[in-house]
Amino acid sequence: MEEGHKEPLVLRVEGSHCSLSEMDDFDLTRALEKPRQLKIERKRSFDERSMSELSTGYVRQDSILEMAHSPGSRSMVDTPLSVRNSFEPHPMVAEAWEALRRSMAFFRGQPVGTIAAYDHASEEVLNYDQVFVRDFVPSALAFLMNGEPDIVKNFLLKTLQLQGWEKRVDRFKLGEGVMPASFKVLHDPVRKTDTIIADFGESAIGRVAPVDSGFWWIILLRAYTKSTGDLTLSETPECQRGMRLILSLCLSEGFDTFPTLLCADGCSMVDRRMGVYGYPIEIQALFFMALRCALSMLKPDEEGRDFIERIVKRLHALSFHMRSYFWLDFQQLNDIYRYKTEEYSHTAVNKFNVMPDSIPDWVFDFMPLRGGYFVGNVSPARMDFRWFSLGNCVSILSSLATPDQSMAIMDLLEHRWEELVGEMPLKICYPCIESHEWRIVTGCDPKNTRWSYHNGGSWPVLLWTLTAACIKTGRPQIARRAIDLIESRLHRDCWPEYYDGKQGRYVGKQARKYQTWSIAGYLVAKMMLEDPSHIGMISLEEDKQMKPVIKRSASWTC
Ligand code: GLC
Repeated sequence: MEEGHKEPLVLRVEGSHCSLSEMDDFDLTRALEKPRQLKIERKRSFDERSMSELSTGYVRQDSILEMAHSPGSRSMVDTPLSVRNSFEPHPMVAEAWEALRRSMAFFRGQPVGTIAAYDHASEEVLNYDQVFVRDFVPSALAFLMNGEPDIVKNFLLKTLQLQGWEKRVDRFKLGEGVMPASFKVLHDPVRKTDTIIADFGESAIGRVAPVDSGFWWIILLRAYTKSTGDLTLSETPECQRGMRLILSLCLSEGFDTFPTLLCADGCSMVDRRMGVYGYPIEIQALFFMALRCALSMLKPDEEGRDFIERIVKRLHALSFHMRSYFWLDFQQLNDIYRYKTEEYSHTAVNKFNVMPDSIPDWVFDFMPLRGGYFVGNVSPARMDFRWFSLGNCVSILSSLATPDQSMAIMDLLEHRWEELVGEMPLKICYPCIESHEWRIVTGCDPKNTRWSYHNGGSWPVLLWTLTAACIKTGRPQIARRAIDLIESRLHRDCWPEYYDGKQGRYVGKQARKYQTWSIAGYLVAKMMLEDPSHIGMISLEEDKQMKPVIKRSASWTC
């Protein structure tokens, strides 16, 4: 518990405004050799670039990055810019802004986040009245895109403070760098104090670890910096330390034989037992992205230098591993189908001893000749062939996927629109698991029955990651199609958390209404399509030094 007192929450620092764009193109190999050379240079004004550089086709991200919004150019006003700027805004946009503002949580008068759902009709609140770190990300992006960075800055500082708490589950102490899954502001109207309670997994259903929170925090810090041009926040000793603490948790050496991050079930958006334990794609993609974001913000001082070196090495190993072993397309599937097993030594082709008999039937029909994706998980004798949307979209945004692989992921989405999008964007994963498998994998979880919730349910929040991936790959028409679907239902259904069914046609059985990230995700998607330069805050250019190891799929021809 944190007692209320009067010091100002917001760090008011006036400072230099420049961009991180140069850092995104940071040459990894060079850094490995001479870490001392790392420095942030001032960018030329984005006004020098013309809007025509954002023409249709493959959007050049470096131009987008330099067009980041001028700091302070937008005033804090209640009318959202997307409403004021466009001629015929969809009526949903104004309502979404209103709902988003209603979900704001305040600490001593300052906005510090948005609660997960503002659903008064629901009989069970559980923890949906809390500010979740992962749920706040689309809210934060919406506020940044609308020129309202203060709430984001307050959130980053508040969660940074919470990171400093001692965290325990029963008698076990958690790592110092762990960021909360969620927090709640308690207002005492009599004593006129605000108090915060936070959950690091010790109260969560199933006592699950929020591995994704720290990664989202770093990604958001970069988005804030990129969007405002204000370097002073990320450069504070507190933020530098916060980043280092998060990185210490995932860069430590141990028994690992893979550069991927080993996780328990329920460690991310899928926060229940769903067979995602091991090396889930969502975490690996966020890990990769957070490492790249941290690399662009860490100071090469005495404490930072060692981390920079470790990040660079890890990025090399991680991108090689992911691009080689997680990638699946027609050719790769055929190779696995013909794998020999029980191979020993360095010459093994089937390195993880995957049994061809363990390939599920559905994947043979599902896989188009053109297209591919990063599979759900890879570990000894275990490949989870399921397609997960968030991990694949973040792989595109972080450039974990090569340009060819990014195109292939989008090709697959187009080819398998019925299965992956259906009537409501976007499936959290495909396909669902049922019957005996559902019993074994979920532990008979009634919330995760087939085509529901985390088990093949459709989540409107995923629209923003899809839209960002579409813009980055120069295929905005795919996003438009998805937005049309959302606009035909979401508002009418009161912004549900998720939809059920093979087509995503039914409002989810236990879905909250007025789920904040469904609302914010829609706004972010709309604003990005309207002004694609926004994507710079959530996307990273390909690093030319991380050469693709295998090239398949997009170039696959008979
Ligand atoms: C559910 C989701 C989780 C989300 C939380 C709050 O538990 O699985 O990803 O953060 O609700 O919306």
